[in-house]
Amino acid sequence: MTMPVIELCEVSRRYDDGPPALHEVSLTVRPGEAVAVLGPSGSGKSTLLNLIAGLDRPDTGTVTVDGVRVDRLGEAGSARYRRSKIGMVFQFFNLLDDLTVTGNVVLPARLAGMARGAADRRAAELLGLLGLDRRARAYPGRLSGGERQRVAVARALMNRPALLLADEPTGALDTAAGQDVSRLLTELNAEGQTIVVVTHDLALARSCTNRTVRIADGRITGDIRSQAVTSQTVTSQAAR
Ligand SMILES: Nc1ncnc2c1ncn2[C@@H]1O[C@H](COP(=O)(O)OP(=O)(O)O)[C@@H](O)[C@H]1O
Ligand SMILES: [Mg+2]
Repeated sequence: MTMPVIELCEVSRRYDDGPPALHEVSLTVRPGEAVAVLGPSGSGKSTLLNLIAGLDRPDTGTVTVDGVRVDRLGEAGSARYRRSKIGMVFQFFNLLDDLTVTGNVVLPARLAGMARGAADRRAAELLGLLGLDRRARAYPGRLSGGERQRVAVARALMNRPALLLADEPTGALDTAAGQDVSRLLTELNAEGQTIVVVTHDLALARSCTNRTVRIADGRITGDIRSQAVTSQTVTSQAAR
């Protein structure tokens, strides 16, 4: 068996005196899986993603991602971990408005110490793959929502993350743009990218993932593999 990309072991998290946002959640995600996390508002989905991303720490339990004990990282270690292992995509894109598309996309690589020329080449390659080459010098304010989200995906892929995390990536998009993003995630997964996507959007979950984890009141209430992992993904897993 290959090493899991994500291993959560009895993870609990509560905020202040509220009920637990997560209660003894255990979850294993293997390389090449695309997992949808579905659940009503307030069920703990973003809390789960934040713990995996090292943006928050559990009260009890362990979080291991690609061999890193994320729950034990300090602030600097956690920032370094995110830069090297994680790509994140958010509902409202979180692009920097005073940087161009290319400026946004190269940022994670520049922060990780990649030379300017190499970062620019990688950004150009990604923007080409995502159909954004003609937008490279535009500012985010001039782009449609769907284009902004594709820029956010390009930025998330810049450092070749072991894991792509997306929190409601179609939540602010119209249907057509949402389908574009969904197709993009499907293609990335077909190439072997491990993905966890939090969503309310059943169509997104069905079309771009092969496993659905349901969460309610901070507990996992369902975990169903909906399709076989594609043969290409299996091959790339075997090659690891
Ligand atoms: N920073 C916070 N401070 C206090 N309570 C929070 C915070 N973040 C989330 N919560 C609470 O934790 C629970 C789970 O929230 P969240 O993970 O954001 O759910 P979801 O993403 O599924 O909507 C909710 O009850 C929410 O109010
Ligand atoms: Mg949320």
